[in-house]
Amino acid sequence: MPLYLGFLACNESGNPVPQSPEFKVEAPWNLGTEVPYEERNPFSKDKIELGRMLFYDPILSADNSISCGSCHLQSKAFSDGTALTKIGVSGNPLLRHSPSLINLAWMEGLFWDGGAKDLESLAFGPITHPDEMGLSLKEMEERLNAHAEYPDLFKKAFDVNEVRRVEVARALAQFQRTLISADSKYDQWKRKENGAVLDPLEKKGLGLYEKYCSSCHSTDLFTDNSYHNNGLNDDFSDKSHEFIFLGRFRISFDSSDMGAFKTPTLRNIMLTAPYMHDGRFSTIDEVLDHYSEGIKGSPYLDEKLQKDGKPIKFKFSPEDRKSLIAFLNSLTDQKFTTDPSISDPFAE
Ligand code: HEC
Ligand code: HEC
Repeated sequence: MPLYLGFLACNESGNPVPQSPEFKVEAPWNLGTEVPYEERNPFSKDKIELGRMLFYDPILSADNSISCGSCHLQSKAFSDGTALTKIGVSGNPLLRHSPSLINLAWMEGLFWDGGAKDLESLAFGPITHPDEMGLSLKEMEERLNAHAEYPDLFKKAFDVNEVRRVEVARALAQFQRTLISADSKYDQWKRKENGAVLDPLEKKGLGLYEKYCSSCHSTDLFTDNSYHNNGLNDDFSDKSHEFIFLGRFRISFDSSDMGAFKTPTLRNIMLTAPYMHDGRFSTIDEVLDHYSEGIKGSPYLDEKLQKDGKPIKFKFSPEDRKSLIAFLNSLTDQKFTTDPSISDPFAE
């Protein structure tokens, strides 16, 4: 659960001046002590709370049927349990799988291909997309301005006399930066808290993870914030939907990014099936089958997954699999999935 600390800055003579109502949101040290934020959008408790309401309010969809929280469910670490969801207002399946939303404040690129650079600029994507929430920003503003509570809440949080799209995006971004997960058994063991220990199987899994996985799923964020082709496909001829199937190449037009997608975090991974950008694997076993025997070779396959020009087969033994899965289970953070401060306020 994020901690809010009133924070002091210094004036020109070096004396601390209170910055209230601005807040720093504190994070556990293994993520980095302070939660990063955009300079144009400093934290405050009111903005975070407003963002939380907006995140869970179906008012942001054309037919008032779905909210951000409909595809990003807290109980599933803010993923949705579906490969390609059809719950958007058009009923058409989306072209990509809904990712979990975890420790986003530290993510350098957002979306599977890094197509959004920060949470502020991302928000209008799902709101206006015809297959997601399908609402124009103009109508969004009109609705929120006509609402019984929102104008006052925006006034309180941002000191504005009318609801504007820019503050909608800022509030949503702030709330999402408080989606901090760092209280799994692994974290407690790492921080030497509550006498937590990893048992021998989990430790063995940690060793295998460090050997085979941590070069990409790195640091305690369990992502290197970068893009790799991990051998899911070897055919990149489908250029439809503005190159959406080509991964990061769609953004960079650099051939080394062909079929490369953002390394997803492994935190809460046992709660976020199905897996990969298209949700093609329904279980963690299928993911391990992929790394064990199924990596596909292509000129774009990441070097770390090749040996002598051929795709690596990790060939995990049954014992390896058991221990890897035990380790991945130690990354489940039940506090995160039940924390009332980030839950649906309308369900209370
Ligand atoms: C209909 C389902 C749906 C709804 C509603 C929805 N999302 Fe998403 N969300 C997705 C999908 C699918 C992706 C992946 C898109 C991609 O990468 O191309 C995604 C990606 C994201 C990401 C990127 C995460 C990352 O790790 O890169 C964020 C942040 C996000 N959504 C926030 C929101 C917010 C905020 C709202 C509400 C304004 C919202 N979503 C509404 C399905 C949805
Ligand atoms: C070369 C970098 C790299 C290595 C090494 C690597 N991964 Fe990945 N992993 C990725 C990328 C990139 C994706 C996303 C691919 C996609 O969706 O197209 C991914 C996806 C995953 C997913 C699905 C996550 C989700 O939310 O859908 C899991 C689980 C996973 N990897 C586990 C592992 C394990 C376990 C290992 C070690 C045995 C490993 N990875 C090694 C880069 C890597």
